[in-house]
Amino acid sequence: METKQDVLILAIESSCDETAAAVVKNGRDVLSNVISSQIELHTLYGGVVPEIASRKHIEKINQVIGESLREAGVALNEITAIAVTYGPGLVGALLVGVSAAKAISFATEKPLIGVHHIEGHISANFIENKELEPPFVCLVVSGGHTHLVVVKDYGEYEILGCTRDDAAGEAFDKVARTIGLGYPGGPKIDRLSKEGDPDAIRFPRARVDGSDYDFSFSGLKSAVLNYLNSCGMKGIEVNRADVAASFQKAVIDVLVEHSLNAVKEYGFDKFAIAGGVASNSSLRAAFETECARREIAFYHPSPVFCTDNAAMIGVAGYYEYIKGTRSGYDLNAIPNLRLGER
Ligand code: KG4
Ligand code: ZN
Repeated sequence: METKQDVLILAIESSCDETAAAVVKNGRDVLSNVISSQIELHTLYGGVVPEIASRKHIEKINQVIGESLREAGVALNEITAIAVTYGPGLVGALLVGVSAAKAISFATEKPLIGVHHIEGHISANFIENKELEPPFVCLVVSGGHTHLVVVKDYGEYEILGCTRDDAAGEAFDKVARTIGLGYPGGPKIDRLSKEGDPDAIRFPRARVDGSDYDFSFSGLKSAVLNYLNSCGMKGIEVNRADVAASFQKAVIDVLVEHSLNAVKEYGFDKFAIAGGVASNSSLRAAFETECARREIAFYHPSPVFCTDNAAMIGVAGYYEYIKGTRSGYDLNAIPNLRLGER
């Protein structure tokens, strides 16, 4: 039952290869979450093809928005505001969502709110953890980003560390391709690792000079490649499950160590994960165990709210809305938008 005071956000997300729309009530209640994935299409090419992504978004966006309203049982004129991802992401893909949101805002005379994609990922934690409130530390691990962040308040962030080269998800995708698993690599490595021994091969755990909280994954990626090449030269048959499990463990060890050291160092007792890689089952289990050991409360979204979706944009959009954030019709897609920038 919706009342007049309820804040209903229609949210749109199109930064990469998912066309998504959602309706979120009062920042925490997801009334609908519609996702049209292009994964099968891009699998043909071994990765996301930006031009194809943009074209597919154009085909799908109206249908997805309509479905999100229908599923929520909410009419367009009942919506309080429209939130949309305007960066970071693929510029052509972002533009489709931004243009649709601007058109709806103009036609309905409802406020428009541009949302940062990573702020969305972090905010996904508020959906199922109703008691979670800032401040806390959040590790954002997606296909394009690896950020260790202090969430000081809603929409207020301090970045403690980030990757110096590849994002965590990018490393999963590249290693998966190297061992012949194809795209998207993360879920496939996750699955295959269950059949392998994580201690079979000792891959490096990279430290970044001069920073306790930055990450680097390109050396690990090269180490996997070198291992495969040396097996090839020696005529040794590669156990792909062992490679997947050992690679995954090397990534997880570094993520857990850096993140939980930061939580203690900065004096927090709450920690959350976000982004596509946060749906990795071994990563979740490792954080579960280590957080319990270190007496840190651990939060994570369900897998459907970890990978790209619009519900998370609706949550972030709600908190921006009540803070008074409004975007003009000059809102543009910003492919390299930094967290905390507007
Ligand atoms: O957050 P997301 O959907 O999109 C970006 O904003 O980048 O993240 C996609 C990334 C991909 O690199 C994908 O391989 C990875 O998340 N991913 C996973 C898993 N599911 C998705 N990585 C490891 N294990 C998974 N189960
Ligand atoms: Zn994302």
